[in-house]
Amino acid sequence: MTKQIVNMTVNGRKIQELVEPRTLLVHFLREQLNLTGTHIGCETSHCGACTVDLNAMSVKSCTVFAIQANGAEIVTIEGMAAADGTLHALQEGFRQMHGLQCGYCTPGMIMRAHRLLQENPNPTEEEIRSGISGNLCRCTGYQNIVKSIQYAAAKINGVPYQEAAE
Ligand code: FES
Ligand code: FES
Repeated sequence: MTKQIVNMTVNGRKIQELVEPRTLLVHFLREQLNLTGTHIGCETSHCGACTVDLNAMSVKSCTVFAIQANGAEIVTIEGMAAADGTLHALQEGFRQMHGLQCGYCTPGMIMRAHRLLQENPNPTEEEIRSGISGNLCRCTGYQNIVKSIQYAAAKINGVPYQEAAE
């Protein structure tokens, strides 16, 4: 199949690559750009493990062809920490609040939470649960994921994190 040129900005870096039209964005990120933090779970748009930020929207990258992302700005989990290695507030939150166990869902969950907090910097617990409802976690029962996102929201807003009574 004839390859086509795509241009994108991925984690702040401009890239130009040749891709086959059938290549899914998740395979392009993982196999061509070696950004393997974006995981593949179901490849049928159910699990959210492949979630990335595309033009300021959360997308499941198994549902998008790489050529459809031509010209796009993409952020993956590899683009979340600062250049000096300082963790993003969400990454810190997941670590501090034990928001992961096996970690398979975590990159997609963090990317979804990132967009959620961009759109709603101070979400309620219900808004967090609704916001991540397209991302499945088989391990945690979600409680600590919610706390991790609340921790990050507090840190981003510059207020102390206060754990809600259960
Ligand atoms: S791998 Fe894309 S939604 Fe599951
Ligand atoms: S931590 Fe294992 S799937 Fe979420």
